[in-house]
Amino acid sequence: MAIERTLSIIKPDATRRNLTGKINAKFEEAGLRIVAQKRIKLSPEQAGKFYEVHKERPFYGELVEFMASEPVVVQVLEGENAIAKNREVMGATNPAQADEGTIRKEFALSVGENSVHGSDAPETAKEEIAFFFSGLELVG
Ligand code: TYD
Repeated sequence: MAIERTLSIIKPDATRRNLTGKINAKFEEAGLRIVAQKRIKLSPEQAGKFYEVHKERPFYGELVEFMASEPVVVQVLEGENAIAKNREVMGATNPAQADEGTIRKEFALSVGENSVHGSDAPETAKEEIAFFFSGLELVG
């Protein structure tokens, strides 16, 4: 199985409630290693660019406003099958549909305020990691 890297974001609803450590424990328990991590505050422009793929969706404005509302923790997770594994640990987008034990089931407040972001494919993982981290910041 391939060792992959994926981009994860702990969203404002979770940083606000001091859940970074509990969420990181879920990643580590699943065998995902946090190889880079920083706490930043996104500007609305940066949040808008990151979620550009959703530009035409009705929730875009609200999503951008939320992501820029308070600090986030951006991180790179590494491990076997890290992209799919992280999506499993995160749970479904809508916490009402998320499986027991997943981050979104335990912590998310709503579809919008759903605690975590995770890349959905190898190509987007590569782009999203490069959006936030330079090569120098990535220690395997
Ligand atoms: P999406 O890429 O569909 O989900 P995921 O984060 O699970 O990959 O959507 C991106 C984010 O947009 C999602 O995490 C929260 C927000 N969103 C809404 O606010 N309302 C919605 O109806 C959907 C589908 C997403």
